[in-house]
Amino acid sequence: MMTASTPAAPTRARNKFVTDSWNRLARAYDFPILQRLAYRPPQDEILEQLHLTDARRIADIGCGTGILASRIYEEIGPDVLYGCDASEGMLAQAKARTPEVNWINRQAEDLGLPDGAVDAVVSTHAFHFFEHAPAVAEFHRILAPGGLLAIVVANQHNLLGQFFQLTTSPSVMYFPTIEEMRDLVEEAGFTLLTQRPIRRPLPGAFIPDVLTVARKH
Ligand SMILES: C[S@@+](CC[C@H](N)C(=O)[O-])C[C@H]1O[C@@H](n2cnc3c(N)ncnc32)[C@H](O)[C@@H]1O
Repeated sequence: MMTASTPAAPTRARNKFVTDSWNRLARAYDFPILQRLAYRPPQDEILEQLHLTDARRIADIGCGTGILASRIYEEIGPDVLYGCDASEGMLAQAKARTPEVNWINRQAEDLGLPDGAVDAVVSTHAFHFFEHAPAVAEFHRILAPGGLLAIVVANQHNLLGQFFQLTTSPSVMYFPTIEEMRDLVEEAGFTLLTQRPIRRPLPGAFIPDVLTVARKH
């Protein structure tokens, strides 16, 4: 059964170290090669998923410098769009990128949005910092019935994930396995739709990240 939350210290998501680190990294984060190699492929697949839905209210959680949320605005044009991040430094970069997104400085586990506020919640490469079960419960709460959840996070079934997990304390971040992600979303009341590695030109052992897509009952 679910073990994803087991190694997580209860304070991980509120860990000042995480937020302070991202405040410091914010200016370097948009470096084009880093973005193209690491972050763009999962963002492309999240956009693909959103194009398959008629979601008009969308939230990007752990939005960082706002690249994905800005692309959602430009490529989908939703009626309501939130970009949420715990780091003021990352959000400052996001705010400079576009005023068309509602940028909110909140923790993923306590988003401060009303119940059923959005039709889709997306998140790329931030979930490993969250308190897993409380965050998924919060996503479930803010989603309308039938709403879509799409999360990309690195996992432990590959060399990169193992390296990060071995070199970083689970109290700072924890990479869930594919099975743990499945259990997390199902136990929160979602129906799992798909789980697969993000398409990258890499051998399987190096595939660092997995897309999990689920729907609220
Ligand atoms: C690797 S960046 C990913 C940013 C963006 N999603 C992307 O794909 O480019 C991780 C982000 O998660 C944010 N973060 C970490 N813990 C958080 C939490 N509990 N709630 C909201 N944001 C958090 C960090 O501040 C950081 O901006």
